[in-house]
Amino acid sequence: MNKVVLVTGANSGIGLALCERLLCQDTEGLQLCLACRNMHRGQAARSALLTSHPEAQVALLQMDTSSISSVISAAREVRLRYNQLDYLYLNAGIMPNPRFDVKAFFKGLFSSNVITMFATGEGILTQTDGVTADGLQEVFATNLFGHFLLIRELEPVLCHADQTSHVIWTSSSNAHRSAFNVEDIQHLRGIQPYSSSKYASDLLSLALNTRYNQQGLYSSVICPGFVMTSLTYSILPSFPAFLWTLLMPLFWLIRLFTNTFTLTPYNGAEALFWLFEQNPESLNPHVKYHSLTSGLGNNYTQPRKMDIDLETSESLYEKLLQLESEVKKKLEEKLK
Ligand SMILES: NC(=O)c1ccc[n+]([C@@H]2O[C@H](COP(=O)([O-])OP(=O)(O)OC[C@H]3O[C@@H](n4cnc5c(N)ncnc54)[C@H](OP(=O)(O)O)[C@@H]3O)[C@@H](O)[C@H]2O)c1
Repeated sequence: MNKVVLVTGANSGIGLALCERLLCQDTEGLQLCLACRNMHRGQAARSALLTSHPEAQVALLQMDTSSISSVISAAREVRLRYNQLDYLYLNAGIMPNPRFDVKAFFKGLFSSNVITMFATGEGILTQTDGVTADGLQEVFATNLFGHFLLIRELEPVLCHADQTSHVIWTSSSNAHRSAFNVEDIQHLRGIQPYSSSKYASDLLSLALNTRYNQQGLYSSVICPGFVMTSLTYSILPSFPAFLWTLLMPLFWLIRLFTNTFTLTPYNGAEALFWLFEQNPESLNPHVKYHSLTSGLGNNYTQPRKMDIDLETSESLYEKLLQLESEVKKKLEEKLK
C-alpha cells in the first residue's frame, strides 16, 4: 500500500529537505503531495525531486495557508485525489519583518540565560504582523489557523477507525508561554506573533490528540533547531547570504555548546523524518521532538517536555472552532 504524505511549505528549506529525505528512503511506496502557495516555486521543487528520484510519485497542490478560501478549495482537491492521508506535515510558516533586539542580545550575552537565548532566540526577536484579506492576523493565519482549518476539512481522509494518520507540526523552541494569551489568540496586542503562533501549535497538537485519537488521528510537534533557510536570512535582511556563510565556522563552534544549531535543512528535518518511522500511538502528546546535531555533526531526535496544559489547550481549541464558524459564515455570505 502506498503511503500518502502531504507537506505544506514543501518548496524550500526544511519542508523540501524532508521530501528529499523521504524519497531517499522509499520512492516506491510513497505518494508525495507538495502543498505550495506559489506554483512556480512548487514546480521547481517538484522538478528537483524528480531529477534525483525519476520514478517517484510527486504531485503539486496550490494552497495558501493564510487564505481561508484557498485552504478550503485545496482540501476539497485532496479529498478528491486521495481516500486516505497517512501523514500531514504542517510545515509552512512565516516570521515577517523580524527585528533583532540588539540591546536584549547584549543583555542576554552577559546573563545566566545566554545558552537559552542562543538556543531558542528568547527575548531577542520581535516582528511586525500584517492582516490577511480575510481580516486575520497574518502570522496566526499562516502558521496556525490555516493548518487548523485544513485538518478540519480533511477529516474524511484523516480519520479512519482501522488505520492511523499522523499530523506533524513544525513548531519551534521559540514557542514561549509568555508570548501567548488565550484571550488574544491572534496576538493582536503583542510584538511576538511568531512565538505566539508556535506556542499555539503546541497547545493545538495536544487538543487534537485529546479529541481525535479515538478516530485514528494523532498529532505531534517538532522543533527543527536553528536552520539556515530564507526564514533565518530574513532576520537580518541587510545581511547578504554570503556573510551568513562566512559565519558558519562560528556557528559550528557554538554547536559544541548547544546541539540545537542543526544549521542545514537536512539536519533540521531530522525529527520530521524520525516521526515518519514511528508508530504514532506510541508517542507522548506532551513532548516536542527536537532535531539535534552534535558537535561532531551527528543527527538525532530528542523528546523534551512542553510547557503546556490541557485546560489552555481546550480553551484554544474552543476559540478556534468559534473562529472557524465565523470565517465560514463570512465566506458563505460573500459567495451569495
Ligand atoms: N529555520 C529555522 O531556524 C526554524 C526554526 C524553528 C522553526 N522553523 C519553522 O520551520 C518551518 C519551515 O521554515 P524554513 O526555515 O524551512 O523556512 P522557508 O525556507 O522560508 O520555508 C517556509 C515555507 O513555508 C511556505 N509558506 C510561507 N507562507 C505560506 C503560505 N501563506 N501558504 C503556503 N505556504 C507558505 C514558504 O513558501 P514560499 O517559498 O512561497 O515563501 C516555504 O515553502 C516554518 O514553520 C518555520 O517557522 C524554522
